[in-house]
Amino acid sequence: MPEGFLKKALRGFEPYVPGEQPPDEEGWVKLNTNESPLPPSPNVIKTIKAAAGDSLRLYPSPTAAPARAAIAAHFGLQPSMVALGNGGDDLIEMCFRAFAGKGDHVAYPTPTYPLFEPLCTIHEAVAAPHPCAEGWSWPKELAEDHARLKFIVNPNSPTGTWSPESAVEEIVATAKGVVVLDEAYVDFAPESCIGLLEKHRNLLILRTFSKSYALAGMRIGFALGDPDLIAALDTVKDSYNVDRLAIVAAVAAIQDGSHHRAIVDHVVGERAWLADQLTALRFEVAPSAANFLFVQPPPGAVAAAVADALRERQILIRHYDREPIAGWFRITIGTLNQHEQLLGALKEILG
Ligand SMILES: Cc1ncc(COP(=O)(O)O)c(C=O)c1O
Repeated sequence: MPEGFLKKALRGFEPYVPGEQPPDEEGWVKLNTNESPLPPSPNVIKTIKAAAGDSLRLYPSPTAAPARAAIAAHFGLQPSMVALGNGGDDLIEMCFRAFAGKGDHVAYPTPTYPLFEPLCTIHEAVAAPHPCAEGWSWPKELAEDHARLKFIVNPNSPTGTWSPESAVEEIVATAKGVVVLDEAYVDFAPESCIGLLEKHRNLLILRTFSKSYALAGMRIGFALGDPDLIAALDTVKDSYNVDRLAIVAAVAAIQDGSHHRAIVDHVVGERAWLADQLTALRFEVAPSAANFLFVQPPPGAVAAAVADALRERQILIRHYDREPIAGWFRITIGTLNQHEQLLGALKEILG
């Protein structure tokens, strides 16, 4: 295609590259994209099967109304404070459509979720990344930036860093525009900042069913916030952005609290165990409040070579090769069996 066909903003564009998804049947140990190691609730599977019938010829509810109502009831909010998306990523895209256009500044700390930067390019907004401070904490420049739109991820990815509510509130209270708090991993952390919604009308919280509800393949995310912010998202969303099976899955998943608790407890327990094991192998392990560990291999090991050697053994982790996190790995918390395979392979590779 002649380059001139592309809009100017996209010439030389570096897109977001999702983690590798090898074919399911090949039996990889997949610790690279922060999926749940445990399956979804059996009630969710039953509900999806029951819904996979004649009604699929009809469009879904444009507002995903049953899911909005169930999520609102779960959090003790009004349905007007909930919006649904085709995964959290869809909601992040909707935030750009609604709140940041050509020339507007969009601020976020780095390193963080690498989707924000390419979305700035697509929407011709000006990316304002602020390098993290000591211990991957948010830098003070982030609160001082008067961007129209700010993104913070808590716990952050890929670092796993947890920031207390007071740190979130400082950013939200001083902001001149909308602050999007991405809580994709919050169920594995001490607490959510949902309580801040009562005080701050410029705060939008994003959540996903992809991690702690084990539904990454269904693509369901939701936003919680002031009815005016939610209405703004609704005006820019795709007409039917959440399909019929996703809507019923969301309702069944949010109503099965005990299955959700079991997934979270498993991940939190395994996270502590894997952190100890990697520390014993002389890895540097950053404190993590998420469903992954951010680690650096022992001094002398070449990170890229270690990641390649794991890949040869059909074990996938996320390896970073760009500063400031060149040489770091992000390893999703898996099952005990997956961890044993990983540790066995690392012992072999590192000698
Ligand atoms: C920080 C963060 N936000 C949002 C998402 C998107 O999740 P999904 O689109 O699967 O809901 C991810 C996925 O890994 C993530 O790491």
